[in-house]
Amino acid sequence: TGYVTLDRGYKNTGATKSAITFLDGEQGILQYRGYSIEELAAKASFLEVAYLLIYGELPTQEQYATFETAIRRHTLVNEDMRKIFDGFPVSAHPMSVLSSLVSAMSAFYPDAQDEKGSEDRHIIRLIAKLPTIATWSYKRSLGHPTNYPKNNLDYISNFLNMMFALPVEEYKVDPVVAEALNVLLILHADHEQNCSTSTVRLVGSSQANLYSSISAGISALWGPLHGGANQEVIEMLEAIKADGGDVSKYVDMAKNAKTTGFRLFGFGHRVYKNFDPRAKIIKKAADDVLSKLGVNDPVLEIAKGLEEAALNDDYFVQRKLYPNVDFYSGIIYRALGIPTNMFTVMFAIGRLPGWIAQWKEMRETKEPIGRPRQIYTGATLREFVPIEKR
Ligand code: CMC
Repeated sequence: TGYVTLDRGYKNTGATKSAITFLDGEQGILQYRGYSIEELAAKASFLEVAYLLIYGELPTQEQYATFETAIRRHTLVNEDMRKIFDGFPVSAHPMSVLSSLVSAMSAFYPDAQDEKGSEDRHIIRLIAKLPTIATWSYKRSLGHPTNYPKNNLDYISNFLNMMFALPVEEYKVDPVVAEALNVLLILHADHEQNCSTSTVRLVGSSQANLYSSISAGISALWGPLHGGANQEVIEMLEAIKADGGDVSKYVDMAKNAKTTGFRLFGFGHRVYKNFDPRAKIIKKAADDVLSKLGVNDPVLEIAKGLEEAALNDDYFVQRKLYPNVDFYSGIIYRALGIPTNMFTVMFAIGRLPGWIAQWKEMRETKEPIGRPRQIYTGATLREFVPIEKR
């Protein structure tokens, strides 16, 4: 009560304390639980990072074995969830399918509503099943049968196998592909109080269950200003290529965003006012992965040209707009054979441990229900006029 401070978009409002991710936007620093993103991307596995985010410390070998085995054992998705999936149109965007089916999980595991003591099982289920659900959409878009998970495979190989294995031939995971995916998932694993994570926290703050909270996070991630930007970036780069490849024309359009309504997707960030450290790693990885796989993607050259043109332009310099995580990630996903409409799904698989960690932290620190205030701008008190007299 009393004064309400207005802060549209929460540009300066801290909504919580958190011990999970440290971010310094001026200096371009990102750390999970005190470990630098650069070191984790180079040395850790995605599930190790997931454990670190959720439980606060890197796992011992024994803890890792227990965690990883539990995830392997929960990769199957209830066959009745298939019936829900079968009701979606073939053209459904994989993000709408993903958020709906994760939401449906709360109906299949109703004990999530009273999670005392069962929380770890829901955490394992979500991490284990998200890749399985994600691959259903892709397989069906091809008219192919879905692949059941194979529990003898590690997390990333299992995902790749469900995505790409065909019944007629043996699918072998390319270690270059698996490593690239490992790095991408780690780089997306958490990013403190971003839009989708804040959504997960806000929904969870009413004590809604984990599945419902994560489903809301997936929906928030889908928007083009957030995770949906990775799909938009590739579509934009392809449009520039089809239009003759003149990057300066698009930089000019973006400079006049106010009149043209066009923004450079993959550029700018609420917190980074210096290079996004994830984009730095991903840019180099894009070069490495494409050369190792022998892929020559003209879109990469367009991206580099666009970046250079923008970084040399006063508009972008003055506003401190740099490439963000989404700028180069799509180029790697493409080289790995992942279709454009699945890019944001990949982001969701990566971000899941962060959402879970933040949800868990919120519960453990007994955060109060999230309930922002407002400044009312509507009509003052007036008299009701009966409908016949209006
Ligand atoms: N292209 C052209 N102009 C831009 C861009 C852009 N991509 N981003 C920001 N601006 C301008 C904006 O018009 C404003 O100009 P002015 O000062 O003249 O009004 C100024 O820069 C500040 O922008 P803002 O919109 O007030 O900044 P914000 O913190 O509210 O928005 C953002 C951050 C990421 C939503 C925005 O930069 C954007 O829309 N970028 C494109 C979408 C994108 O790449 N999103 C992915 C973000 S990173 C990963 C993730 O979250 O998923």
